[in-house]
Amino acid sequence: MNILILGSGGREHALAWAVKQNPKCDRLIVAPGNAGIAQIAECASLDILNGRDVVRFCEENAIDFVIVGPEAPLAAGVADATRAAGILTFGPSAEAARLEASKGFTKEICDACNAPTAGYARFTEAQVAKDYIRRVGAPLVVKADGLAAGKGVIMGMTEAEALAGIDEIFGGAFGDAGAEVVIEEFMEGEEASFFILSDGKTALPIGTAQDHKRVGDGDTGPNTGGMGAYSPAPVLTDAIAQAALDEIVLPTIREMARRGTPYQGVLYAGLMIRDGKARLVEYNCRFGDPECQVLMLRLGAQALDLLHACAEERLAEMQVNWAEDHALTVVMAAKGYPGAYEKGSEIRGLAALPEDSRNMVFHAGTAARDGALIATGGRVLNVTARGETLAEAQARAYAMVDAIDWPGGFCRRDIGWRAL
Ligand code: AMP
Ligand code: GLY
Repeated sequence: MNILILGSGGREHALAWAVKQNPKCDRLIVAPGNAGIAQIAECASLDILNGRDVVRFCEENAIDFVIVGPEAPLAAGVADATRAAGILTFGPSAEAARLEASKGFTKEICDACNAPTAGYARFTEAQVAKDYIRRVGAPLVVKADGLAAGKGVIMGMTEAEALAGIDEIFGGAFGDAGAEVVIEEFMEGEEASFFILSDGKTALPIGTAQDHKRVGDGDTGPNTGGMGAYSPAPVLTDAIAQAALDEIVLPTIREMARRGTPYQGVLYAGLMIRDGKARLVEYNCRFGDPECQVLMLRLGAQALDLLHACAEERLAEMQVNWAEDHALTVVMAAKGYPGAYEKGSEIRGLAALPEDSRNMVFHAGTAARDGALIATGGRVLNVTARGETLAEAQARAYAMVDAIDWPGGFCRRDIGWRAL
């Protein structure tokens, strides 16, 4: 099978790493890829938001299977374009990807299928939204409806913060994504991520994880795309996961099918857990980054069989073979991230890390320049390890972090604290 993966982050490096180990994979191309991906796959430059370009590339390179990594090409309809051209594709249609691309749409689906989630109201006018905030009072969560690279959510712990959020979103801080606002009840509890493959009919859970969104140790400082993750997430017990599947995920999949827009791909349910019950915070229509890195390290080569069966609507015949183990990833980021950061600093020491199939350094923002590895993004490396216990995985990951020589980078030192 010739496979094309779209994307360039640590998530796509992890997907490529897992797919590549499966003997069914003949040729592997990642577009655009990065310096780490280039060590295991061909990288191609391609406008991954342009469906026609992607289809042409697939035809020229005899691609049999396309795996879409990030949300932007999904929302732009790239999976629709490749499927229409008869190319097997992992990733939802643009209509189905609205589960991530519109928070208001997700709420509508939750209402239609009675899935437990935060109470909410939708607004298109600032004054009406502000009157509502003054009436119900803080704490509230104010969200831009559309895709805002994870930045369109404002915690209104006080009324003033919530009101300021309205000005920010309707003031254009998130462009078109802020044409509508969703205001939600603030949910307390512990967050965890639940990953489910859906072929439109069958749902197959493929793992749980927990992310660390704040930049600083002890969950302090501004929010980021994620500074580390581990899998499994102990807070998502089997019983809570089963209830979330029955009450949230399966009803969503049935409702999407009923509307004629079946959901095919990975559904990433962000859950808030309290008193043994899960409520939906949000859906994403892609793997989490860096959650994918810990899932792929645990799944290995079978990931390709699972994604392929998902695209061929054969999930009912699949099962996941889990090792009873844990994986943990530490994100190394450029100093300054998530604010302004420097690009181009050199990273040394990766080649000297001992070969070990339980350890993997996935690259996010890297490039090769004159034989050196340089940082090109905010989140740069995902230092990932497996172990029989979470503590063992954590110790292995930080041993690698300590062996990497990158003065321009930093990481959190407490990834995994909640579970340990
Ligand atoms: P979202 O992009 O909708 O997942 O929101 C980003 C983050 O904001 C979530 O991961 C939560 O930490 C937090 N959040 C979002 N909605 C709520 C809510 N209704 N109650 C509490 N926290 C929330
Ligand atoms: N790590 C959070 C996300 O991928 O959305």
